[in-house]
Amino acid sequence: MRTRLIAAALILSALPALADEPGPGGSKPPVPKTGAEVYKVYCQACHMADAKGAVGAAAFPALAANPRLGSPQYAMFIIENGKAAMPGFKGSLTPAQEAALIGYLRTHFGNSYPEPVTVADVEAMRKAAR
Ligand code: HEC
Repeated sequence: MRTRLIAAALILSALPALADEPGPGGSKPPVPKTGAEVYKVYCQACHMADAKGAVGAAAFPALAANPRLGSPQYAMFIIENGKAAMPGFKGSLTPAQEAALIGYLRTHFGNSYPEPVTVADVEAMRKAAR
C-alpha cells in the first residue's frame, strides 16, 4: 500500500516536468534543430517556402539562387542584426541553430556553397560584434 502511494506521488511529481518538455505531449513547441526546421519557424513567413521571396507589405528578397549567400559573413550579419523590415535573430537563435540554418540555405534553393558554416564561425562573429 505504502509503496503504491509513494509510486503515485513520484509519478505525479514527474508529470508537470513532462508536460513542459518540448515536442508531442509537452506544452512547449518543439525546438527547431536542423536548418530546414529553423528556416520554417523563423524565415519562411517572409521569404516563403520556396525561398523565392515576395512583394507585399515589404519587398522580401529571394534567398533562392542568391549569390550573396556565397559569403557566410554576409548571411550571419543579416540574420543576427536584421536589415530594414527584417528583424535580427541574434537573441532567438543559438549559434548551432544559426550555423545549421546558414548551411541549409547555402546548399538548397539553387544555392551551391558546400563549405560549412560552423558554430565557431557564428560565435566568432558574435564576439566581434560585441
Ligand atoms: C519579417 C519578415 C522577415 C523575416 C521573418 C526574415 N526576413 Fe530576411 N529579409 C526581410 C526583408 C524585408 C529583407 C530585405 C531588407 C532590405 O531592405 O534590404 C530581408 C533580407 C534578407 C537577406 C539579405 C538578402 C540580400 O540579397 O541581401 C537575407 C540573407 C535574409 N533576409 C535571410 C533571412 C533568414 C535566414 C531569416 C530567418 C532567420 C529571415 N531572413 C527572416 C524580411 C524578413
